[in-house]
Amino acid sequence: MRFAGKTVVITGGSSGIGRGSVELFLREGATVVMGDIDEAQGTAMMSSLGDSFLFKKCDVTQESEVKALMDFAAEQTGGIDVVFNNAGAGGPRDAIDEISGDDWDFAMALLLKSVAMGIRHAAPHLKKRGGGAIVNTASVCAFQAGYGPIAYSTAKAGVLHLTKIAAAELAQYKIRVNAICPGFIQTNIFAATVGANEDEAREINAFLGQAAAGVQPVARPGVPGDIAEAAAYLASDAAGFVTGTHLLVDGGLLVGTQASWNPEIPGMLDAILPEHLR
Ligand code: NAI
Repeated sequence: MRFAGKTVVITGGSSGIGRGSVELFLREGATVVMGDIDEAQGTAMMSSLGDSFLFKKCDVTQESEVKALMDFAAEQTGGIDVVFNNAGAGGPRDAIDEISGDDWDFAMALLLKSVAMGIRHAAPHLKKRGGGAIVNTASVCAFQAGYGPIAYSTAKAGVLHLTKIAAAELAQYKIRVNAICPGFIQTNIFAATVGANEDEAREINAFLGQAAAGVQPVARPGVPGDIAEAAAYLASDAAGFVTGTHLLVDGGLLVGTQASWNPEIPGMLDAILPEHLR
């Protein structure tokens, strides 16, 4: 019960990582206020998750709605202790020489400005509480090319820098700010990005499960609970000396090439040395 008596605000909690986090923070004793654009799912969660769960419709691309979510959480529960800025989607997939300015603006509003506004409008409430913790969802896409669309990846890299600067500015108020960089996690995001239907979405996640052993050293798919555990750690008192940084939760996806962890793949020395000198 690490969060008994605490109010935790989570965005994008109708599905995937956010949903897993809602459930974990509730199990740990928190009152959870969840904001999401998916009103039907949020309302259904209100009837299934009990009195410690509140939902408010919130489109994180709209500053006024982000502010309204934070104000609602504070009014309804007496204050805010933790904010998990997590909502997101894959966004436009066009190449750098094809993407439109409007699509670029949308991706930045959804994935970067939304986090900035989440921090902006949570901070006054966290200050009133005498401190708190903010966790932002970034991605492995922040580090390398090839894991996601260009605007998405650029925005996620921005989330890491925003996390650092915000942590520096807010430390004086005892507010910690950190980010999580998930690897491939079985959620709806891939299906939503390619516009798949429900059957195709199941197929995508089953495929991700089977492919996991060839994708990263930890031979199982990442699940929302893996990221929820990281969010709970960063939000908890156990991380009291941790701020302005990120936690990579990717099953080792970024440790190196497949040759570095899979003995069946020829290593770099095999690739660059003549056979008799290996
Ligand atoms: P998901 O599709 O399962 O959940 C995303 C949630 O965000 C949904 O509930 C959706 O309704 C909500 N949402 C989308 N646009 C919104 C908006 N404008 N306003 C409010 N809510 C909105 O996807 P997932 O995977 O759980 O994504 C959560 C976060 O994790 C995102 O920021 C995503 O970029 C990030 N992430 C996911 C990875 C993965 O492999 N699943 C990897 C790295 C990062």
